[in-house]
Formats: sequence, structure tokens, C-alpha cells
Amino acid sequence: MGKRTSRPVSRSGRFTRGPGADVARFTESVSFDWRLWRHDLQGSLAHARMLQRIGVLTKAECKAIAKGLEQIYAEIEAGKFRWKPELEDVHMNIEAELTRRVPAGAKLHTGRSRNDQVALDVRMWLRDEITELVTIELPDLQRALVELGERNQAIIIPGYTHLQRAQPVYLAHHLLAYVEMLARDNSRFSGCFSRLNVCPLGSGAIAGSTLPLDRQFVAEQLGFKDSKGRPAVSQNSMDAVSDRDFMVEFCATGALLAAHLSRLAEDLILWASSEFNFIKIADAYTTGSSLMPQKKNPDIAELTRGKTGRVYGNLMALLTLLKGLPMTYNRDLQEDKERLFDTADTVRSCVRLMAAMLRHTKVNAAACTAAASDSTLLATDLADHLVRRGMPFRLAHHAVGTAVALAEKLGKPLGDLTAAELKSLNAAFGKDAKDCFSLVRAMARRNLTGAPGTKEVAKQLARWRRLLA
Ligand code: ARG
Repeated sequence: MGKRTSRPVSRSGRFTRGPGADVARFTESVSFDWRLWRHDLQGSLAHARMLQRIGVLTKAECKAIAKGLEQIYAEIEAGKFRWKPELEDVHMNIEAELTRRVPAGAKLHTGRSRNDQVALDVRMWLRDEITELVTIELPDLQRALVELGERNQAIIIPGYTHLQRAQPVYLAHHLLAYVEMLARDNSRFSGCFSRLNVCPLGSGAIAGSTLPLDRQFVAEQLGFKDSKGRPAVSQNSMDAVSDRDFMVEFCATGALLAAHLSRLAEDLILWASSEFNFIKIADAYTTGSSLMPQKKNPDIAELTRGKTGRVYGNLMALLTLLKGLPMTYNRDLQEDKERLFDTADTVRSCVRLMAAMLRHTKVNAAACTAAASDSTLLATDLADHLVRRGMPFRLAHHAVGTAVALAEKLGKPLGDLTAAELKSLNAAFGKDAKDCFSLVRAMARRNLTGAPGTKEVAKQLARWRRLLA
């Protein structure tokens, strides 16, 4: 444990001495919340301007504060600012340094508490984070998926259910499934943004302020808006300082995004195996084995799959943090930020690397074509042939089942049964029954909206290309 000797002088009039080193270490948050510095400075500047408007600060004082904040901004950006853990958090570090330089800095905390300050800073930080995810990172991953589909537009692979061969699909169709998932993730992040874009400043520690703070002005300065573009301020001071719903929402949305990425990662891992051999991931996105010279492991995909665990964990940690927490702010809430930051960092890096890896992945056309040529993939098409000839589907399903059994008995592929052999099983099989086994024709037939038909997949690729342009 830490030394108890050199206690810092307390900042407060209530305490004669500051905390011991071990207590300071236990309670500090600046080692991780320093990341909020930009938004803390922006918030302070808006608050100072407002204090001038209502006459708490003179014009000169506000100007001096703004200048001090600007200098601190430049120093932090240049990595020259010395963060002091004994000052606890990013808010106290910045305010203490400002006040050391500018006497009027001592007026900055008028009508403000760290409780509404931290709620403000995190909301602003998360707004930027979400903006980058929804406008840059997620669309870029979607684009990488569309590009891989377009580069391999003619490639057909087996589609799987239960990891058993089911029906043929274009590889692009499989990839576009992820584009759809990511679009929903994107819309969930945007929804989270719209709900969190409410300014909590002015809520004070719990009960607002007796001073005539201009909350609308601050909200406007900091870009907090409702759907109609009007400044949005929180409507209940107790809720505002203890609400962390937006973090839970972000982490839940991040968890679902991680789930989607883990499924994509798993597909790539399977496809890169010798057993499938559908793709080859570029060396830069794989690693070797320290023992087996032949190994080329898809570690990026595996780590993406693996990191899903911590992202789920972050969500669970946040929910647990909030469970039964009495109103309003409790120091427990300081534990929220590392979970939030970790989810944001993790999903962002997974999304980025996944996009880069997809751009460095080659499709093995021969292996895909060989797998997609398995004629049992078209057993359902053969049943549809009987349906077109008037047979109820349940009977058609049974009839094709007998054909599959016969092919198995004869030791040949379903598609190699002769017209006569089919006819011998059921008179309803037409002369043209065997046409069902033309993969080209089969793919041309699947043109319902959302189906993996040749035209439909081309249409969907074009739609996404347009939407993502
Ligand atoms: N470091 C604190 C946190 O992250 C800031 C708010 C502290 N408020 C307080 N009353 N101690 O939650």
C-alpha cells in the first residue's frame, strides 16, 4: 500500500488534510477520464460565456478564462499538460490549473457541480464517438463487404443451415446479409444519439441552482438539440445527474454489433480452413505458429470473435452498476467510464480491422464452384418442379426424398439420376425434371425481393453501392 506520510493539502475548507496516497489512488479517475478533456474544456467555455451573460463574470473575466482554457487546450493537445492524480479527475485537474493561472477561474464552478459536469462531458464525448461510427466506420465496413461481393459477383457457394449444405446462394448475398445487420446497428446508434443529445448542465449536484443560469443558451452553444433543431435541456435535475441510460444503450448496441462481427469473423475462419478453402486472407491479417511451420492462423478474425466477450461484459458491468443504485449521483458511477471507453474502443477497432481484412481477402473460385455444384443443394428446386406440375408440396417433398435415397443407394449425386430413374420413383417427374439441376437456371429463378437470384443480388449490390456512396 502507499505511503501515508505526504498528504496533500485539502482543497476544501471542510477537510484539514487531503486523502492518503492509497485512498487517492483508489478514488482517482484522471488516469482514464483525462480522455474527456476536449469536451470538458468546451463545456467550461460555454458555461463561462453563460455566466457572463447573467452577470456573474465580467466581460474581462470571461475573456481571461477563455484564454486560459485555450492555453490549457493547446498544452494538453501537445502532451505538455501534467495530470495530477491527487486532483482526482479531469474536471478538477483542468479547473485547478485554470485557477492557478487566471484568478477569475475560481468563479467558473458557479452553479455547476462535477455531477452535471461529468454527465455533460460524457454525453459530448459519446456524441463524437457515435458520429464517427455511424458516418465513417460502419459505412466503410459495409462498403468493404459490398466491394468483396462485387469483385466476386459470379461466385456461388452453398448456403448453410445447421452448418449443413442447404441451398445455393451468391457469395455476395451472404456478404450483403452483414450489410443489412450493420445498417440496423447504425440506426440503433443513431437512435441512441438522438436520445442522449440533451444538455444536463444546470442540474447542479442534484437540485439545479438558485442562480438564474441560462440553460438554453448553454445547450445551444454546445449543440444539444431535439428533433426539430431546438435547444434540448434535461427536464429533471435528479434524473440528469444520475442517468446513465445512454451509456447502457450505447454498450447494448455495441454488444449487438460485436455479435454481428463475431458471426462474420466465424464465417471467415471457417471459409479460410482447409476444409472449406473458400477464401484466402492476406498474410498481413494472419499469423504463424511458433511451433508448426505450415500454420497460417486467422488471428484478426479470432480476436474479433473473442473481443465480443469483453463487450458483452461491459454491458453487464454497467447494468449491474446501476441496479438498485439510490438516487441520485453516487461515486459508484465513476466506474461507468472505463466500461464505456472499452466498448467504444473495442468495437471501433474491430470494425476497422474487419474492413481492412475484407479488402485483403481473395476468394477461391474453384473451391466455391466445386462446393456449389453439389446437386443436393437443388433438391428443393426439384420439389418446386413437382409443385409446378400440380403436386401438393408435402407430397413433392416426400417424392424428392425418395430420389435422394435412391441416389444415395446408387452411390451417385442426386443430379446424376436419369430421367427414367426419376420417373420410376414417381410418374409426376416430368421430362424436364433434370433442368432443375442447372445451377445457372436455378439462380435465375430466385428473384423474389431479398432472394439470392442473379438479378436480385445485382440489384441489391447496386442499391447498397448507391446508399453507401
Ligand atoms: N470523477 C467523478 C466521476 O467520474 C466525477 C464526479 C464526481 N462527483 C463527486 N461528487 N465526487 O463520476
